[in-house]
Amino acid sequence: MVKIAPSILSADFSDLKNEIISLDEAKADMIHLDVMDGNFVPNLTFGPCVIKSVRPYTRLPFDAHLMVENPDKMIEWFALAGADIITVHAEVCPHLDKTLDAIHKLGIKAGVALNPSTSEKVLEYVLDKLDLILVMTVNPGFGGQQFMENQLEKIAKVKKMIGNRDIILSVDGGINPMTAAKAISAGADMLVAGSAVFSGKDYAKNIANLR
Ligand code: DX5
Ligand code: ZN
Repeated sequence: MVKIAPSILSADFSDLKNEIISLDEAKADMIHLDVMDGNFVPNLTFGPCVIKSVRPYTRLPFDAHLMVENPDKMIEWFALAGADIITVHAEVCPHLDKTLDAIHKLGIKAGVALNPSTSEKVLEYVLDKLDLILVMTVNPGFGGQQFMENQLEKIAKVKKMIGNRDIILSVDGGINPMTAAKAISAGADMLVAGSAVFSGKDYAKNIANLR
């Protein structure tokens, strides 16, 4: 069954501890943490202190999706804050191979995210170093945007590239029950969802509807 990783970008930040506990109770599979620096993307969110402060309230794995210009400088901060996976954007990692090694050296898993305009070809020579691939189906920066249908082809291509490797194929942006079905049939193993999970109070029902 497809895994669901709620993005806390759409959570109530004044009550983050209880939001995390609610996601755990609602049977989320992973917590997706959207870190934005106001440079790589036109929005600013939170950093390692916030992640560290909510880390004690769930045993679910944390994926830190770093939408920052200088991920190499920051990966250690997020590993120390309790991230289980650090996902960097290929667009800002000229030495992607080395960045993935640096993440693994910290004892955690490594992911690569691709903006909608980035070809899956950039993954070709680092496939054996990947634990997760995050195909962005919106231009990153904000929650509540529309799913880009033209990324379905990329999801299918990435699925093929992965072959029998143990890599999670995750899809992020504009996921709702309709687009979830399309992403799953294109090959997604995991769906990141912000607005679809946090709309209304019944997170368990929202998560179940996406599966
Ligand atoms: C986009 C973020 C996403 C976003 C998803 O910049 O990376 O994780 O929060 O939000 P929805 O599900 O509302 O598109
Ligand atoms: Zn994200």
